[in-house]
Amino acid sequence: MSWRRSFLSYKEKYEDTYSPPPFDDVNEEEKEKETKKSGGIHARISQCSSSSELKKRLKMKEEEGVGEEEEEEKTRRKDDRDPVPETGFTIWDASLLLAAYLKREEKMEQFLGASAASAAAGKTTRVVELGAGTGAGTLLLVESVVEKMRERNGDVRFVVTDLDVVLHLLRHNVRESGASEFVSVQRLEWGETRRKEDVESVKTLLSPSRIDLVIGADLCYTSNEEVIKNLADTVKLCGSRACVMAFCREHNPSAVDLFESLCEDTFRIKKVTNTDPLWPEHVREDSDDFVIFEMTRCVALDE
Ligand SMILES: C[S@@+](CC[C@H](N)C(=O)[O-])C[C@H]1O[C@@H](n2cnc3c(N)ncnc32)[C@H](O)[C@@H]1O
Repeated sequence: MSWRRSFLSYKEKYEDTYSPPPFDDVNEEEKEKETKKSGGIHARISQCSSSSELKKRLKMKEEEGVGEEEEEEKTRRKDDRDPVPETGFTIWDASLLLAAYLKREEKMEQFLGASAASAAAGKTTRVVELGAGTGAGTLLLVESVVEKMRERNGDVRFVVTDLDVVLHLLRHNVRESGASEFVSVQRLEWGETRRKEDVESVKTLLSPSRIDLVIGADLCYTSNEEVIKNLADTVKLCGSRACVMAFCREHNPSAVDLFESLCEDTFRIKKVTNTDPLWPEHVREDSDDFVIFEMTRCVALDE
């Protein structure tokens, strides 16, 4: 059976809550036992078709803020916005790939500070996910990373970011996955320079000494080049020494190529494909639709 969600039914993509095995096929009692084992964290990812559906699904009311955030979105400039609205309410394939890849022992050590040496240095590893959508890229990863860090006495914190319209779903999913201690939610629009308070909060979030790794899944799918330029600018502004992005090239190969060419002046980019020995077996397939960019900063940071 294919691992790819793009082939699933409407119900599976927009109505069902996604939980990785063993949670998808066990009873409530088993779920509770498993959750206890992993310190209370286990991904439970709600999805829906739109923000209006989200309000109904999560029983949200205007006074809880969903309406206000949408109003704010409407008043913002639209010319460098993705013309495909509300893509962040379902899990995209590349986020399954990204999480599975970064869960490899070698990758946790390389990118997530899970090596004995980094843990011994007593540093907290900080990871920011851009365009997190449902939060799957991070929420499918955090349980394993936290477990590994506990073994090593290391520490890790994730920040999942997206546009206003998706933040309620993101907060809900972080909470339902029992991951609030390790994952926080923040609004971050690529290329943001419009409101003073946004610039300040983005600056704080993006202060170079604070971020070790930037991650993202399926962020190059639009034909609006301004969106891709804003994304590349944000990745550079983040100031992390590394960035790992997973793409499904099927959506828009030229957007992935544009992103690569825009980032080449700042990062050395290693492209990982499904012939790589560390590509997770359960997402290996007979196609080159997917690619992972491992990006290492080659231009010194302005501290
Ligand atoms: C194709 S979805 C991928 C979602 C998620 N990463 C995944 O793989 O399931 C693209 C995500 O980028 C977000 N996005 C689009 N334009 C954005 C922008 N200008 N700033 C921040 N996020 C944006 C969307 O809201 C959406 O969550």
